[in-house]
Amino acid sequence: MSKTIFIREINGKFDYPIVIGEKIILQKIKFVEKEIKNKKVIIIYDDYFNLKKNSVLYDLNHYMLKIANDVKLISIKSRDKNKNLKTLRFLINKILKFNIERNSIVITFGGGVIGDIGGFVSSILLRGLSYIQIPTTLLAQVDSSVGGKTGINTSRGKNLVGTFHQPKCVIIDTKILKTLPKRELYAGFAEVIKYSLIMDKNFYNYLNINYDKILNLKEPYIKHTVYKSCQIKSQIVSKDEKENGIRAILNLGHTFAHAFESELSYKSDLIHGEAVAIGICMAFRLSSKLNLCKNSEVKKVENLISKYKLPTTINEIKTISFKRKSVFKKLFSDKKVKDGKLTFILCQSIGKAMIKNDIDENTIINFLKEEINE
Ligand SMILES: NC(=O)c1ccc[n+]([C@@H]2O[C@H](COP(=O)([O-])OP(=O)(O)OC[C@H]3O[C@@H](n4cnc5c(N)ncnc54)[C@H](O)[C@@H]3O)[C@@H](O)[C@H]2O)c1
Repeated sequence: MSKTIFIREINGKFDYPIVIGEKIILQKIKFVEKEIKNKKVIIIYDDYFNLKKNSVLYDLNHYMLKIANDVKLISIKSRDKNKNLKTLRFLINKILKFNIERNSIVITFGGGVIGDIGGFVSSILLRGLSYIQIPTTLLAQVDSSVGGKTGINTSRGKNLVGTFHQPKCVIIDTKILKTLPKRELYAGFAEVIKYSLIMDKNFYNYLNINYDKILNLKEPYIKHTVYKSCQIKSQIVSKDEKENGIRAILNLGHTFAHAFESELSYKSDLIHGEAVAIGICMAFRLSSKLNLCKNSEVKKVENLISKYKLPTTINEIKTISFKRKSVFKKLFSDKKVKDGKLTFILCQSIGKAMIKNDIDENTIINFLKEEINE
């Protein structure tokens, strides 16, 4: 059985379904057949997948060949270090050689890196092609495939080049998570936990009580977890697509996370979800330091993050080291800087996030001294 969430912008600017279920990709892609029929289709996929007979990608391609005018398969490498201008240029050249037309359609099949760069190239080619997201990592299923943020990294910072470009639909198959390496799976839970912490205490309780079943991808627990995450994100994005207000709370933990990732030049010693987990704990510790939230709440958050086998401090990652000064500088490359001031998403308690943009620089410098061993 599948479940569908409609993400509807309040002024009607976009309205598309996010379908969540098990082994549903082929069945659900048929619902968007009219988007595909007799058109040129470009499938951008993670090179982890292959076209072996009876694999999901094989079946998808087979179906496309039957109904589309023509199909072009392009594989790219995942990982943040490849979400860059070089891969973008490669994609542009490959797709343009395919003589696309305005009604051609892109399908992204992979994790957040494939979805972000595939969505971005769709948004700029011929001033915008339609695209469909088929996310294959937990992180992509609960976060990056929903909400239309696309883009690439630069050496100056994360996701600094990009667009808002909403997909035609998102098809989520929780069965596909079975092959995901454990480390990638756990990383995805950082974003799941984030949703509970920003606005849903009941969801936090659910994640706390059922953590072993969820971690082991037991149904219906994992489907419900993905569903709830997509529902919370959809509610927020439908009110504020371009992050002029409420959408900013989705960045809980991300200001710190992006600074670490960018400082490391996106090396895989620290993957995005792990950086977010640490960033979330830092945001709670900073909230407590500023007397905005109780220390007991911080402990609960650290406990939940640990249950999901994620790090709670940057010092736990033994293979890397940071200079506090450089991290502080990197905080200012973030897109959330406004009028030269840093914006942090902090929490008053579990389930209650707030936007704070009046923290003075010395407080942050002192806070980094407590957080980063040099
Ligand atoms: N657009 C947004 O709103 C948004 C939100 C959050 C994160 N992001 C971005 O998402 C990216 C991270 O995404 P990610 O964590 O999915 O990383 P990723 O795309 O690099 O995938 C992680 C790893 O999982 C492998 N993989 C993918 N699917 C698999 C499967 N089913 N089985 C086995 N292996 C599989 C990949 O080959 C890769 O090695 C970052 O660039 C981040 O900035 C974007």
